[in-house]
Amino acid sequence: MKEDFKMAKSGALDLATGVGGSIKKKDVESAVEKYEKYHVEFGGDEKTRKTNYTDMVNKYYDLATSFYEFGWGESFHFADRWKGESLKESIRRQEHFLALQLGLKRGMRVLDVGCGIGGPLREISRFSFVSITGLNNNEYQIARATELNRLAGLGNSCDFVKADFMKMPFRDNTYDAIYAIAATCHAPDVFGCYKEIYRVLKPGQCFAAYEWCMTDHYDPTNESHKKIKAEIEIGNGLPDIRSTHQCLDALQKAGFEVIWEKDFATDSALPWYLPMDTSHFSLSSFPSTAIGRFMTRVMVRMLEFVRIAPAGSMRVSSLLEKAADGLAAGGRKEIFTAIYFFLARKPLTES
Ligand SMILES: C[S@@+](CC[C@H](N)C(=O)[O-])C[C@H]1O[C@@H](n2cnc3c(N)ncnc32)[C@H](O)[C@@H]1O
Repeated sequence: MKEDFKMAKSGALDLATGVGGSIKKKDVESAVEKYEKYHVEFGGDEKTRKTNYTDMVNKYYDLATSFYEFGWGESFHFADRWKGESLKESIRRQEHFLALQLGLKRGMRVLDVGCGIGGPLREISRFSFVSITGLNNNEYQIARATELNRLAGLGNSCDFVKADFMKMPFRDNTYDAIYAIAATCHAPDVFGCYKEIYRVLKPGQCFAAYEWCMTDHYDPTNESHKKIKAEIEIGNGLPDIRSTHQCLDALQKAGFEVIWEKDFATDSALPWYLPMDTSHFSLSSFPSTAIGRFMTRVMVRMLEFVRIAPAGSMRVSSLLEKAADGLAAGGRKEIFTAIYFFLARKPLTES
């Protein structure tokens, strides 16, 4: 096998043919329309998003996954970043950091909650010599993740389970370590989600996560703040973005001892949202720069016109541009963070 064997589907044709995931190509346009209607801009509300979270989130990832792979790679998350460090390096470092915080060692049973197409799972599994189960409720992503694991030679050591992290099909006290990266923000109820993670974690063991949160600078009475929050929600398939305090309270209420927590956005040398800042140019994160986004837009329009990409692809592309703008605005104003970290332990004996 060639050493630089490329696994992510990062070509224009991959993007075009992947739009819609497991949705039938003829139904992509109506799926985008239904997805949009869950959100404020199209008359939707939080209650409906929460009640229908499975449909809303699955539609989002069916529509968006091939764009993510094209523009971002196999790990669908942000990272704090040092000067001189590439985006990819910072993403990997953050995954290694998580593994070290959890003290992962050979033989441990590890769960990745909301594993995407398995980018972090593959990196952490190889870094720490552990077998990891990836939990995900999106069929298309599980299929991609399984294929990528096979290509990476991890087909026998790691596996995937298609299930909802609000009701996991695992026995109590199963896992030696659990992590979640940019995933539990999709939960309709963060307490319910953490409580379920607590249930399947062994006593004395740890849960670590990177959460997406509103910060203390967010003012719910400020119209421009509210607009940015809504833009991030529609652009990223979120029912409602919680504050860092709500997440912390929910962890403690679920029974966890919080070992430490920190918003890594506060002292990252380079802002986590830099790749989406249209005033910034970088060859290594070209697709998210202003020119890169323009070229993607033109390309998707063309591929949709010649019917290689399904009808509705351009609308998905616009949705994701909105996501990028909302994230960059939220990051710049410091009202939103995509890298709120915590490490928490399930006590040995329950109080
Ligand atoms: C932004 S992606 C992050 C993926 C992965 N952690 C990474 O960093 O590459 C969020 C993931 O959470 C998954 N997810 C969202 N809601 C879920 C649920 N209720 N149950 C299981 N997985 C869920 C999505 O399908 C998606 O794979």
